[in-house]
Amino acid sequence: MKNFTNYTVYDKKENLHDDTKVVRGALGHDPVTGAISFPIFQSATYRHIGIKENTNFNYSRIINPTREEFERTMAILDHGYRAFAVSSGMAATSLVLTMLKPKEHVLVSDDVYGGTVRACDEVLKYNGVLYKQVDFTNLEEVKNNIKPNTKMMIIETPTNPMMKVADIKAICELAHQKGITVVVDNTFLTTYFQKPLDLGADIVVYSATKYLAGHNDVLAGVVVVKTKEQADFLNLQMAIYGACLAPMDSWLALRGLKTLAVRMDRHASNAKKVAEFLRNHPKVKKVYYVGFEDHPQYAISLKQTTGFGGMISFELDSMDTVNKFLEKINLILFAESLGGVESLVTHPASRTHTEVSKEVREKLGITDTLLRLSVGIENVDDLIADLKQALD
Ligand SMILES: Cc1ncc(COP(=O)(O)O)c(C=O)c1O
Repeated sequence: MKNFTNYTVYDKKENLHDDTKVVRGALGHDPVTGAISFPIFQSATYRHIGIKENTNFNYSRIINPTREEFERTMAILDHGYRAFAVSSGMAATSLVLTMLKPKEHVLVSDDVYGGTVRACDEVLKYNGVLYKQVDFTNLEEVKNNIKPNTKMMIIETPTNPMMKVADIKAICELAHQKGITVVVDNTFLTTYFQKPLDLGADIVVYSATKYLAGHNDVLAGVVVVKTKEQADFLNLQMAIYGACLAPMDSWLALRGLKTLAVRMDRHASNAKKVAEFLRNHPKVKKVYYVGFEDHPQYAISLKQTTGFGGMISFELDSMDTVNKFLEKINLILFAESLGGVESLVTHPASRTHTEVSKEVREKLGITDTLLRLSVGIENVDDLIADLKQALD
């Protein structure tokens, strides 16, 4: 029975680089059998040894070794106290929202993922929590909207789909003066390119469905927290709401994570070339890409990230061009989601941001002629050739 305890002992691997950490994980391999691929513990429950003796595992909603390996790997990568792996990115956001009480106030990025807006509208408002969307690239606007009951700021950076970049450090300094918790949705850049907790944030959330897992084959979410107090609170909420990541999905996320570093580097180098191609095409009116030197927050990106990621939004010259482009695009797939090895293009106004009113969408720049491209890891010349034939 002694071996069982090995599942709870792990080396923090603090001295290693991220590209090693993602490959080697927390325990990295099965300490009992030596299996290099971490086992999928497809068990709902665990046998007790005796009335006061156990293996540290009791029931898989509460704890599961495969999920724990993924969670610990994420906590190591993000320099957090603890991570929680949940059944989707929305489950991660929803878990964090349980920290808010009636009459409290939240500030949310103005062009966050539409599902986050829906959660604020349908869950926060219903529970008597007030929220306001603000432009987090404008610190004065953020400052002016802080109220005595503001308890949380939820920022996405870069934003989805307008690629606005918020200065995480400056926002955290402002928030912490007032005791406000800062939550960063780090889905787009991931822990490989951006470490929100190191920049001062309190909580990081991910749709791990995207780059972390990376293969468009699993839905998953992660919350990483900084303190024991936050971890204890969320641990209880996890037990209550039960949106835990299943063992098989935890394994898929872990396996995907192993190649995060090489994938992110390739996504980023491909995106740079694709963004340049799009910018020079006569039918493309505007390209939103954080790696352009004339991006309004380029200097902030350089300060707080180690890469620009693989996301691009671009505006075409007419609805007719949009329709033809989406009909003709072939290698790049017209589909929702992002961050997988396959390049995907979507139409935010009719797909990912339908929860946002047309009036607000237009104000933010999410026009009907805007497309969002998740640049995959295919050969970049093939991607550019596909874009060219779809635009010409
Ligand atoms: C930035 C961001 N956060 C959260 C989510 C929600 O993630 P999921 O679809 O895994 O629930 C998405 C989904 O597109 C997203 O783009």
